[in-house]
Amino acid sequence: MEIEISSCEHLMYVSEIQQEMYDSAQRRGTGIAKRSIEYLSKKISDGNAVVATENGEWVGFCYIETWSHGQFVANSGLIVSPKYRNGGVATQIKQRVFQLSRDKYPTAKVFGLTTGLAVMKINSDLGYKPVIYSELTQDEEFWSGCKSCVNYDILMQKERKNCLCTAMLFVPPNNTINEAENCSPQKEYNNNEVSQKNEVHSTPKGSGELRLTINNKKNSDEKESNLSV
Ligand SMILES: CC(C)(COP(=O)(O)OP(=O)(O)OC[C@H]1O[C@@H](n2cnc3c(N)ncnc32)[C@H](O)[C@@H]1OP(=O)(O)O)[C@@H](O)C(=O)NCCC(=O)NCCS
Repeated sequence: MEIEISSCEHLMYVSEIQQEMYDSAQRRGTGIAKRSIEYLSKKISDGNAVVATENGEWVGFCYIETWSHGQFVANSGLIVSPKYRNGGVATQIKQRVFQLSRDKYPTAKVFGLTTGLAVMKINSDLGYKPVIYSELTQDEEFWSGCKSCVNYDILMQKERKNCLCTAMLFVPPNNTINEAENCSPQKEYNNNEVSQKNEVHSTPKGSGELRLTINNKKNSDEKESNLSV
């Protein structure tokens, strides 16, 4: 199996990825992630995704998004083709997309919202900790992505303080919460370039004492849906 940083070569899989995201969301009943072909295609061609394939067949996918001007990164849209599930594929994809996020945005916090036990386990192994929602990006555009979830009313009733998803956050040891430093990728990848690094990302002591970051400015990138990561 090949697990690669995305490039234009992977655009041939975009319809299948979008369809499986939609079908899986319906089966789970957790909301429908409305990600357009255009949005996913841009992620793929910009090298902001990880794609797993085997003998030319699509196996799995995940992409990265930035929020609050790069202070936060989310690894979104994790999906594994049903016939390849329960074999460790998601674990490998998440490891790769997490590494890509850390390489591109070394000082950004990495976060996810999920109802899935598999994702909670994987995130936990990567050093994420469960947190309350106020520790996440307060970027309005991120939260408006929850509108496509069936539980959006609950989120609003709870004044966006919590909902059915578990919030998980990785705080890098060098996190500075400095918007100016974080607003652009530190490292640009060529198509098909695969990071060979195998750094261990330990969670810093005291990461439970996170500072509240409020930033309601919109990111200039086009964003679609959150759903679970
Ligand atoms: C969730 C999903 C990505 C997992 O992919 P996968 O390749 O089967 O996951 P892995 O084999 O890497 O499993 C990772 C861990 O989660 C566990 N796991 C996998 N599926 C699970 C499930 N449905 N329920 C509970 N645990 C699960 C595995 O046992 C493994 O745990 P371990 O490390 O303790 O052995 C895949 O089932 C999927 O695409 N589902 C539909 C979309 C989705 O739910 N995306 C995530 C949104 S939260």
